[in-house]
Amino acid sequence: MRKPLIAGNWKMNLDGAGATALARAISDASPSYGKIDLLVCPPFVYLKTVGSVLNGGAALLGAQNMSHEKSGAFTGEISASMLKDCGATHVILGHSERRHIYKETDADMNKKTLAAHAAGLVPIVCVGELLEEREAGRTAEVIRTQFDGSLAGVSAELMAATVIAYEPVWAIGTGKVATPQQAEEVHADLRKLIAERYNAATADQVRILYGGSVKPDNAAELLGQPNVDGALIGGASLKAEDFLAIAAAG
Ligand code: G3P
Repeated sequence: MRKPLIAGNWKMNLDGAGATALARAISDASPSYGKIDLLVCPPFVYLKTVGSVLNGGAALLGAQNMSHEKSGAFTGEISASMLKDCGATHVILGHSERRHIYKETDADMNKKTLAAHAAGLVPIVCVGELLEEREAGRTAEVIRTQFDGSLAGVSAELMAATVIAYEPVWAIGTGKVATPQQAEEVHADLRKLIAERYNAATADQVRILYGGSVKPDNAAELLGQPNVDGALIGGASLKAEDFLAIAAAG
């Protein structure tokens, strides 16, 4: 059985006081959610503060991006070892905002995924199609291409520890959530692909999260799908009450 993972991607939101207050509210409530993993991914500059509030509690700490480089003259970049040093255990990679606004490619994702694993961080590798790709019937092809490009060279053992997040771009921050059937279809195809590329046992272990306008009122149905192992939440993760309500549905 895969343990559900409910992850909050705070994106570029909050200030120090707001991040601390949100972490405190989550941390205070999290002991009652032992059957799931909770994860929060604040902006880099608040990782340590949030980590000290969580203080090794039931919620894990993750970052939203990283460089694949280890160290050196890369102004403005953050390495995997720096994230670990700040207490992060997870890192979101290839979010559609990175892919589309900052033009990060599958090849970039691949280097980052390998670097995250090498440093002992769990990568949460995001994949997802644009609306026009879905409308053209190209969803499966796009997702498979992103998967293959981003995960090349990852061993079966590390694949089992990798988290995949399916985030249809048209559902991110739009209030237009994928139907549970649409999500399940892509998740099941991703699991089939992992079995094809690796083996059934590995495919069984990989957690596949859904992201895109997850809210307290749609979470239970999405999380009830057999291949949906959790959620990657943007807007609703900024309110402790909403985030915890989604976690309770997991
Ligand atoms: O990474 C989570 C995200 O992109 C979904 O955002 O605001 O639609 O929940 P939101």
